[in-house]
Amino acid sequence: MVSIKCPSLVRVSSGQAVLGLSCLAVSLLSFLLIRQLVKQRRPPGFPPGPSPIPVIGNILSLVTEPHVFLKKQSEVHGQIFSLDLGGILTVVVNGFDCVRECLYNQGEVFCDRPSLPLFKKMTKMGGLLNCKFGKSWTEHRKLACNSFRHFGSRQKQFERKITEECMFFVDAIDEHKGKPFNPKHLVTNAVSNITNLIIFGQRFTYDDSNFQHMIEIFSENVELAVSSWAFLYNAFPWIEYVPFGKHKKLFRNAAEVYDFLHQVIEGFSQGRVPYEPRHYVDAYLDELEHNASDPLCSFSYENLIYSVGELIIAGTETTTNTLRWAMLYMALYPNIQERVHREIDSVLENGRTATLEDKLKMPYVEAVLHEVLRFCNIVPLGIFRATSQDTQVNGYSIPKGTMVITNLYSVHFDEKYWNDPGVFLPQRFLDGNGNFLRHDAFLPFSLGRRQCLGEQLAKMEMFLFFTTLMQRFHLQFPPGTIPTVTPKLGMTLQPKPYSICAVRRQQKQCYT
Ligand code: HEM
Repeated sequence: MVSIKCPSLVRVSSGQAVLGLSCLAVSLLSFLLIRQLVKQRRPPGFPPGPSPIPVIGNILSLVTEPHVFLKKQSEVHGQIFSLDLGGILTVVVNGFDCVRECLYNQGEVFCDRPSLPLFKKMTKMGGLLNCKFGKSWTEHRKLACNSFRHFGSRQKQFERKITEECMFFVDAIDEHKGKPFNPKHLVTNAVSNITNLIIFGQRFTYDDSNFQHMIEIFSENVELAVSSWAFLYNAFPWIEYVPFGKHKKLFRNAAEVYDFLHQVIEGFSQGRVPYEPRHYVDAYLDELEHNASDPLCSFSYENLIYSVGELIIAGTETTTNTLRWAMLYMALYPNIQERVHREIDSVLENGRTATLEDKLKMPYVEAVLHEVLRFCNIVPLGIFRATSQDTQVNGYSIPKGTMVITNLYSVHFDEKYWNDPGVFLPQRFLDGNGNFLRHDAFLPFSLGRRQCLGEQLAKMEMFLFFTTLMQRFHLQFPPGTIPTVTPKLGMTLQPKPYSICAVRRQQKQCYT
């Protein structure tokens, strides 16, 4: 029989154990610190930028009005400069010339999305909006563009459906009978219904509390996605295990939204006849079935949920905020509102309903909507991009995979292209004869391969909702109140909640 002798255990005092553990912790921390500092070193030829704080870099500089801070930094460091977001080396592109050079002249290079831990966790870099540039993005973008044309703009009856939604919208506003109300909820519901028609083939009623809750927590995530907690999570993903912080809320909201979308997709795909799609979800399921045997195919049930979510939120948050700003500025500048009323009344004789054909006859309305998009900067920093290969810009070297922030606010406030950019002036979009005037340095939908795919739809919606609203109502603030125009910060800039009176145009009083 073999006997095994136990080796005698070395006796260690508790003091020695504590010392040993402390040494281990100090070595580990030193290792992590050195690794972090190495990550934070700018590579040779990289653009210069503001000095970073050790470990967290420039993250804290982005807490208040980052777009304004970044434009100011470009006056010090040049149109292209770098930031250190806790070890994530980032390039910021400012001013129209530099943004055009990167997004348009080097469109093939600046077309990727950064592999940030937050996006990896939320959408596994799949879906459409956050998808890495490549086969999966191409397939998803193509399907979405085709669906937007097929179930949207190409159908004559689609315009009629938008007009119907405009009527639900103004009827709901009418229910307030000229009394003060916050228009956020109504505008959000009306606008999201246009995207819902394409994606699900149906609208949701304005009192559908489940859909509303989903939109609410989704737009909360649009805000949280650029909070300092989100930047900290991207730099140090291990904070996932810290039991507090806004990133926790972000993940909880995302899980709830995906759960809801899963159920809604199931519901709207009932009764589907293969290859006779009624909406985007059907068209996606056709692709999924058609490519079922292709192991490289990017269509999956998970990516369907992500892309449906991205289309809903990208379409709702942006167009809603534009219309909310437009309403606020109409009440703020009664002389501009009066000119809008005059133009609408002269084109829509006898109170007939607006159609898209009227757009060309309403240059002032167009100018107002364009000035709102320029002045209010709905998506001030675009959606973060990344380089797909090594490149050179303005003599600086930018390696493949670098995160890129496009400061669209700096394009709209670029003194080289705009006179008095800080003044709200719709006339800048009119020539001497009152005709609509295009400007190159107008990029609310960004530029290049990842340019907004909902631009046409958004323009249709904004024109029809705005003219239908202004044809019927005079907008004014409740007596004695003027809301702030300081925006609420997030990935999009939205007005802080405000109350407004929509008074039928025959009446003139605000009923408080
Ligand atoms: C006023 C309204 C809108 C504004 C200002 C706006 C603005 C933008 C901007 C700045 C981007 C980032 C592009 C980039 O990466 O540089 C974007 C992307 C995107 N937008 Fe919009 N958008 C609007 C409406 C819409 C609508 C109505 C939809 C669809 C229903 C939509 C869907 C998307 C999608 C899917 C992307 C990602 C494209 C990609 O990564 O390939 N947007 N939008």
